[in-house]
Amino acid sequence: MQNSFVKAALSILQNSFVKSAVFAVGVCAIYIGIGEEITSISGGAKTATTVAGISPEAGESIFWGKGKCHTCHSIGDQGSAIRAPNLGAHGSDFPLPIGLRAEGRAKEISQKLGKPFTAADYLVSSHYDPEFYVVSGYKNEMPVIWKPPIGLKVDEILAVDLYLQSQGGEPNAEALMKSPYFELLKKAAGSQSAATTVAFKPYLEGDPEKGKEIFFDPNSKTPCAKCHTVAGKGGKVGPELTNVAGTRDLPYIIQSILEPSAVIVSGYEPFLVVTKDGEFITGVKKEEDDKSITLADSDGQRQKIEKSKIEKMVQQKKSIMPDNFRDLLTVDEFHNLLAFLQTLQ
Ligand code: HEC
Ligand code: HEC
Repeated sequence: MQNSFVKAALSILQNSFVKSAVFAVGVCAIYIGIGEEITSISGGAKTATTVAGISPEAGESIFWGKGKCHTCHSIGDQGSAIRAPNLGAHGSDFPLPIGLRAEGRAKEISQKLGKPFTAADYLVSSHYDPEFYVVSGYKNEMPVIWKPPIGLKVDEILAVDLYLQSQGGEPNAEALMKSPYFELLKKAAGSQSAATTVAFKPYLEGDPEKGKEIFFDPNSKTPCAKCHTVAGKGGKVGPELTNVAGTRDLPYIIQSILEPSAVIVSGYEPFLVVTKDGEFITGVKKEEDDKSITLADSDGQRQKIEKSKIEKMVQQKKSIMPDNFRDLLTVDEFHNLLAFLQTLQ
């Protein structure tokens, strides 16, 4: 699995750099070396973490802290993240908090599988492999929380689950540990912290200060801040990146920059609107009500369009984010940028 992780990253890099001679020669050679190097680099890189007791309280501090769950999930009125399902009772989409909601999800899965499946199975299996069940209306964007960068240990995941169970239900460690998925999770999470853990590291260290300049300087070749906010500064066409390296691994971040359309972040899908006057407008949907829709274009300009004037509206496969950064940035600049992004934990 670790090998396929590196292989996937390598193939992203190889495929996308083929077009640019500088990158192709420079970076591919560099990254191919990584396969060999990584094992030795990262052996001791993981620091041991301990949790004071496996309890809902420990889980609560992980949820709002190192687990980074709060960067995507709110719980009821607690937190401001809107990117992922609210895990408390919230509005008509989420009438039940997750401690109770898990029962309904489990029933649905049980019917599909034609065998018993408990609420504890639901929580544990979705942490083992988030792809197993994807909440309707969302994409499979929940990170694998036992893999870097979140990299929770099995005890920590257990604590978080007790905290989730306590949202409307009873925390029950026994039920969680009895789940057949718990064994799978334990094995998978355990193999991560073993000495052989392979973490994907860029070969060049890069200078985060120079990367920050590339990101924020409006005169840089690739002013990322035109579309992305970091710590309160920047535009809002694309998703906020303040914690991007805390929840996303490096291969994902690299792919997001080099092949933006490969995975389009939910809520940032591009649309093409054709008006009855024959005007073509592209942008990310920012607001919608009964009468109108507001799109933000790649310059951050917002345009409100009356629905009565729309001939058709089609979702596009190509991201608003430009896909020519590999042609614009040198190998050094790209690594400086990565170094800066990695500080965004
Ligand atoms: C980068 C964003 C992100 C982070 C960080 C994240 N999640 Fe999620 N999570 C999602 C998305 C998107 C979904 C909905 C899609 C799906 O079901 O996989 C989801 C779904 C869930 C669900 C199912 C909710 C339901 O209604 O059934 C649970 C439970 C959950 N996440 C727990 C966690 C926990 C615990 C953490 C932290 C250890 C966490 N998530 C971190 C994005 C995230
Ligand atoms: C013209 C606007 C625009 C510019 C300029 C831009 N982006 Fe983006 N970016 C987006 C949009 C829109 C998305 C979400 C859609 C998608 O996934 O492609 C996105 C997604 C991302 C993501 C994935 C974030 C996540 O949470 O999953 C990363 C990382 C990213 N951009 C980094 C960068 C970097 C680094 C730069 C500068 C080199 C940059 N972007 C420049 C618009 C832009």
